[in-house]
Amino acid sequence: MPILYLNGRFLPEGEAGISPLDRGFLFADAIYEVVRYDRGRPYRLGEHLTRMREGLGAIRINATPDFFEAVGKRLLAENGLADKDAFVYAQVSRGAAPRYHAFPPEGTTPTVFAFAREMDPPPPPDGGKAILLTDERWGRCDIKSVMLLPNVLAAQTAREAGAIDAILVRDGFALEGTKANLFMVSKGVLRTSPNGPRILPGVTRAAAIEAARRIGLEVEERAFTVEEMFKAQEVFFASTTLWAYPIVSVEGRPIGSGKGGPVTRMIRDALYDEFRGPAAPSMRG
Ligand code: PDD
Repeated sequence: MPILYLNGRFLPEGEAGISPLDRGFLFADAIYEVVRYDRGRPYRLGEHLTRMREGLGAIRINATPDFFEAVGKRLLAENGLADKDAFVYAQVSRGAAPRYHAFPPEGTTPTVFAFAREMDPPPPPDGGKAILLTDERWGRCDIKSVMLLPNVLAAQTAREAGAIDAILVRDGFALEGTKANLFMVSKGVLRTSPNGPRILPGVTRAAAIEAARRIGLEVEERAFTVEEMFKAQEVFFASTTLWAYPIVSVEGRPIGSGKGGPVTRMIRDALYDEFRGPAAPSMRG
């Protein structure tokens, strides 16, 4: 049985219990973070912790992500994942208290929960299909809140359509996936939505932009419409779980050659090399 972390203790999943009055359960009053590890080495942990600290501040939960590094390390060890490609999920809620919408009394202890799991095998490298759905999320998508019901429903619709994910569309702009940022390549320029309340400021997004600039590509952080996306040579998702993953068709319409493209491949290789170290066997081929 997996060993989890809950409120200062490491314990088997079957022994880990949270109050039904926990505000994470009742109100989705919580934020989370997902960090990937290569054989015990976290990928851009500092950036994930900065985002978590900012998220906690934004929703005014009085906690820090300082637990993450040591807890993550021990979870990997306890679960036999220290030599694997794995991830650590951590969530902090405002804690358990009698159900009132406004904040609970001062001194209510936040609930801190974490688990580690081996990465699932990656999807086929030649790319996936996506569908378009209206973005029904709230106005602060930059906060990594566990309030993911719109994402859950959109991801399920995508699954039922045989797609890798849904591209969420607001006011005509193709913003991001349910769990990944979105990029397009047009005339040699890499384009992605600017950070702001409509997208999550992805750690992989930032890494992809850095990688593109290193390669000498022009990068534009400017939202693009669905029509612009359909004219792109390449479109890809970027996330902790997918790296840079080619989208070869949207709503049944091919993107570019319909086979992914060289920019996505270069960025994917650059991200993976950074994760594994340049001397490690690459995922290429
Ligand atoms: N999701 N956009 C959304 C809505 C996300 O949920 C995620 C990550 C990203 C990519 O962010 P990053 O590169 O920092 O992983 C973008 C995680 C992996 C999840 O919910 O499991």
